[in-house]
Amino acid sequence: MKPLIVYHSRQGHNKALAMTLQEEFEGRGIRAEMIRIEANVQTGIVRACIRSIFGRPAKLAAEPDLGDHNPILICSPIWAGHLTPVFLGFVKSLEMVPGRRVFNLHCCYGDTAGALARAGELLQQKGAEVIGSAYITTSDLLERGKLPPFVKEVVDRCMAGGE
Ligand SMILES: Cc1cc2nc3c(=O)[nH]c(=O)nc-3n(C[C@H](O)[C@H](O)[C@H](O)COP(=O)(O)O)c2cc1C
Repeated sequence: MKPLIVYHSRQGHNKALAMTLQEEFEGRGIRAEMIRIEANVQTGIVRACIRSIFGRPAKLAAEPDLGDHNPILICSPIWAGHLTPVFLGFVKSLEMVPGRRVFNLHCCYGDTAGALARAGELLQQKGAEVIGSAYITTSDLLERGKLPPFVKEVVDRCMAGGE
């Protein structure tokens, strides 16, 4: 198993989620690489939210090299009930090899509207095998007892059926 954790984070919550996932893999003797994705051009949050609402993908500063990593875990915020332009830009840039498994994750306030289902659809359209789609709220992330069981379950699901 060669996991890759890709994250988009403006305020640090999804980065913290990504780092905790990396530690969980490490605790099981698995090295997970981590890559931050960001937009080529940084805009203010209002403009970024409007782009989210209209489903406009951002051009990424650098397209991540997925190599032969599997599974891919993607962590990103939800803005105004929508997937972020950076998430959309990442999915747009994806070139899927058959059998690549993707776990879609968000740290957000918990008001996800249809964003999780939409993320699953977009990833499937790119040929990914979506092994999960889940979110943790920012307040649960910061609460001592809630994050460990969340990441444990995600990593358990990544390992189930993985080589
Ligand atoms: C402008 C703005 C709009 C947001 N809209 C939503 C939303 O609709 N639903 C939700 O669950 N969280 C929403 N959030 C919360 C973010 O998804 C949450 O704070 C997330 O953890 C930020 O990720 P980051 O710290 O990695 O950048 C919003 C945050 C901002 C700043």
